[in-house]
Amino acid sequence: MLCFVKVIQFIGIWLQKIFTMCGITGYVGYKNASPILLEGLRKLEYRGYDSAGLALLNGSQLYLEKRKGRVSVLADEMQKHPFRAQTGISHTRWATHGEVTDANAHPHLSSDGNFALVHNGIIENYESIKKFLSAEGYSFSSQTDSEVLANLIAYHYARRTDEKCESRFLEAVRKALMHVEGTYGIAVLCRFFPKQIVAARKGSPLLIGVGKDEMLVSSDVLGFAGRAKNVIYLEDSQVASIAPENCDIVTIGNKQIDFVVSKIDWELENADLAGASHYMEKEIFEQPKALENAIRGRISDDLSTAQLGGINMTPNELRQIDRILFCACGTAWHACLAAEHLIEKYARIPVEVEYASEFRYRNAPLDKSTLVFVISQSGETIDTLEALRESKRKGFKTLAITNSVGSTISRESDGGLYQYAGKEIGVASTKAFTSQVAISLLLALYIGRMRDLSFAEGREIVKAVKSLPAMAEEVLKLAPKIQEIAKKYAKFDDFLFLGRLSEFPVALEGALKLKEISYIHAEAYPAGEMKHGPIALVCPECPTVVFANTDDVLPKIISNAQEIKARKGPVIAITNSPEDFEKSADDIIPLPKVHEALCPIISTIPAQLLAYYIALERGCDVDKPRNLAKAVTVE
Ligand code: AGP
Ligand code: GLU
Repeated sequence: MLCFVKVIQFIGIWLQKIFTMCGITGYVGYKNASPILLEGLRKLEYRGYDSAGLALLNGSQLYLEKRKGRVSVLADEMQKHPFRAQTGISHTRWATHGEVTDANAHPHLSSDGNFALVHNGIIENYESIKKFLSAEGYSFSSQTDSEVLANLIAYHYARRTDEKCESRFLEAVRKALMHVEGTYGIAVLCRFFPKQIVAARKGSPLLIGVGKDEMLVSSDVLGFAGRAKNVIYLEDSQVASIAPENCDIVTIGNKQIDFVVSKIDWELENADLAGASHYMEKEIFEQPKALENAIRGRISDDLSTAQLGGINMTPNELRQIDRILFCACGTAWHACLAAEHLIEKYARIPVEVEYASEFRYRNAPLDKSTLVFVISQSGETIDTLEALRESKRKGFKTLAITNSVGSTISRESDGGLYQYAGKEIGVASTKAFTSQVAISLLLALYIGRMRDLSFAEGREIVKAVKSLPAMAEEVLKLAPKIQEIAKKYAKFDDFLFLGRLSEFPVALEGALKLKEISYIHAEAYPAGEMKHGPIALVCPECPTVVFANTDDVLPKIISNAQEIKARKGPVIAITNSPEDFEKSADDIIPLPKVHEALCPIISTIPAQLLAYYIALERGCDVDKPRNLAKAVTVE
């Protein structure tokens, strides 16, 4: 039975992936810290990569190096000025406040030179804090919000005149954070305590790695660079003081925390490219395996249904549910839309889908028999996490579908389902999406078979679900054909994507993939909507991708394609009825006929490949597209 382990004692952190907007690593021990910090940053870089920096502490000597650009730029600088130290912190930035410059890169020093700090997140009241500190004589050398924290800690440290005991450092950080609004994951050095790092989190993940005579800090287990055997998950509003053999955690309100040390069973999948040209390419072609992992152990042939232990709900409790609400962001939100179609069709339960960033503020009226699901590949997206918290605050059972074992969302949900899709390093999500939709189909089957879905209908869906890996494999064989088509269409700067019913979410996902990695303006519409305005965009310079794999509406989609051709718009048809598009498409990507429940999964794969190959043609950085990072832990 696959389910969330509520108290995380033993975590099989395999296929691990916790990606936040940017990266923090810290080391305190007896080895040379610099190479360890740089190795950790390299493993975190795809999450945010505007700039990188590190601070090292040897005795009371604080050394700072930070550069705009990738970790490799920083590493080259470190080569030129090696600095040995056994304590250090480092950061890869995804800018929210202040341009991408060397000065705005982290770490930031307090103006008295005594503290160095790295920060993930946003300090929402930084302007008022900055104004106060300026009046107190502190100066600033960056445009960032984060820098105020370094000075605020220095301010609180200076206000205490008692002896230089280590608790004074922890106290200063704790006191400073009491004045902060917003989100943070931080690691701090103080010149007076060379064998100590203070770390804290609120809304941005931070983990403490327990090694042999050494401790590490990171926003992601991968940042431990394999050196930690155990992990302590810092919770929101907790502050930790770590030394090579010791860890002390208190709440912001100064209550001692009896923390859990979770064993890491490292079976981290090899994160290298494994011969692929890009992580996105690797992950697109891993989808058969990811789909296999999503369904493994979750099918009951005898009962023609799914087995979903992680839901943590009895059949009777599930029968009381009369509405399901899904919340997510980005690609995961598209998966929610696909889930809506599948659950309403097969389980006959009304489903609503909300952007998590809207739901958390909208105060939507929900009746008591609503079940809330959040979907999040990273398990750390702040909007989705806060939507989960808002739903739980209102007393709703809140479940999660996530790809990240041990992520904040998996730990704070009331249960849910892991995707086991494997690391997804490419910023543009691919295998996570199809895996989420496959799990949503299992959910539809599971609930449907408790209601009106017959044994025979259930058996058909079970058969279809079991064929998913092979069908995905089949579609991937179209890659060379799709690459040829991509060469023809890479020159365009505008695209439309059209789909109906369960393929409208596919159209949205296809448009997002193209936008994210090729910077082409792409919009998706339900195909029937075209005549209500968007058709004005149709012209020879604006190709339209049409998804046509759902029999019920195939004639309508064919007409939509004809309407576009009539206005000289180029059409690419992704369809299991290629013969119907001979006259109404310029290029056809022929798909195998599948059970209609599989359409939103199978139809997505060619759209991912089309976006990937177009981006290559345009010379874009497919794995690290401009302005993006792997997941969003800032609001
Ligand atoms: C998708 O390609 C993007 N990387 C982005 O839209 C992403 O899906 C979104 O930020 C949600 O991320 P999550 O699934 O990790 O919560
Ligand atoms: N808000 C901080 C900045 O803009 C941190 C951003 C991040 O999370 O990388 O520098």
